[in-house]
Amino acid sequence: MTETEPVVFPQDRTCPYHPPAAYEPLRAARPLARVTLYDGRPAWLVTGHALARELLSDQRLSSERTHPDFPSPTERFAAAAKRRIALLGVDDPEHRTQRRRMIPDFTLRRAAALRPRIQRIVDERIDVLIAQGPPAELVNAFALPVPSMVICALLGVPYADHEFFEGQARRLLRGPTSADITDARDQLDAYFNELIDRKQQQSQPGDGVLDELVHQRLRAGEMDREEVVSLATVLLVAGHETTANMISLGTFTLLRHPRRLAELRADPGLLPAAVEELLRLLSIADGLVRRATRDIEAAGTTIRAGDAVLFSTAVVNRDEDVYDDPDVLDFHRPARHHVAFGFGIHQCLGQNLARAEMEIAYGALLTRLPGLRLAAPPEEIPFKPGDTIQGMLELPVTW
Ligand code: HEM
Repeated sequence: MTETEPVVFPQDRTCPYHPPAAYEPLRAARPLARVTLYDGRPAWLVTGHALARELLSDQRLSSERTHPDFPSPTERFAAAAKRRIALLGVDDPEHRTQRRRMIPDFTLRRAAALRPRIQRIVDERIDVLIAQGPPAELVNAFALPVPSMVICALLGVPYADHEFFEGQARRLLRGPTSADITDARDQLDAYFNELIDRKQQQSQPGDGVLDELVHQRLRAGEMDREEVVSLATVLLVAGHETTANMISLGTFTLLRHPRRLAELRADPGLLPAAVEELLRLLSIADGLVRRATRDIEAAGTTIRAGDAVLFSTAVVNRDEDVYDDPDVLDFHRPARHHVAFGFGIHQCLGQNLARAEMEIAYGALLTRLPGLRLAAPPEEIPFKPGDTIQGMLELPVTW
């Protein structure tokens, strides 16, 4: 490990698709650095690719967010972490049980089967854009509704309620206050409890994941209501906000790289590689959090039991030992081993679905709006602060 002055983590990006300049010393200090969290708590930051994959697979690092000493990247998350959260916030063996139940709904095959439905949703949104524009604000008119409609269809949640749950999801992820986060969780709990009641009264279950959980798992006593509600919340929130940010920030990044964009338009067969490379370069979930439960020897030093351990996916995914010219957008590199979806037992459950959504969304934008371009100077377009999932707050475009 190289000694550096502790840098505060996380920080706001200066350019929405590059890590903050202040992270340069962290990039130099691969694979492990010391950082300071917002509350002054020292933490380890994993910055090297090989070490990240090793430690994300290490069961001595816990994701149990309700532990009183679980580190928090922001004050508002500290207050909100009091309640259990399915999958993301539990360790094995409980995690394994929850995850095994969900795997059949998130296989590559299931994602492939959903493609025609995703394509229809994407095409309809573009029809609306064309009918109403140009110009358009792409976050609200496209990037958010597409994954939101897809996850609603998958879960069996009425899309008519989207304004409500998108609003609550936004508060859950961004606050601004801890009271917002707690209240958003309460509102989502109440919403799902009511929806579960309604589903229980239906004699013919619908074909959504939630219908299956209610009519099979809950009825058989394999899961309790609280667990179903928590799982539904995780899937709904994780399922639309992340993908929406990849669609908005990915589109912005492509529009800022005209040569790469032209390459993609000329050869749509490059789309899967472009998706992988954008996932790597943008690393929108930058800052995975764990707590060490035992002493761990790593990179010639000892991570002590109780220590905070964070992972900067943005820095890990630009490890020069793995990626040549890591700051460059290049669809021809092997980008697949990135950790933008995490790694180990918590590796993103929705990654197959997310990849299908991104491919279809970018593909349709490029082919159906061939003149797509930014409708404002790029430096004036607002993006999200560093302590949240990265993405564009607005994306004004024309064509
Ligand atoms: C491009 C979009 C997405 C990105 C970048 C992303 C990123 C991530 C990351 C980094 C993790 C690991 C978190 C950790 O280790 O602490 C994760 C976990 C998870 N994601 Fe995603 N995600 C995306 C889309 C989705 C979608 C569409 C869904 C659901 C439909 C989803 C559901 C989940 C779930 C349930 C987990 C927890 C898995 C577990 O703990 O076993 N994600 N995601």
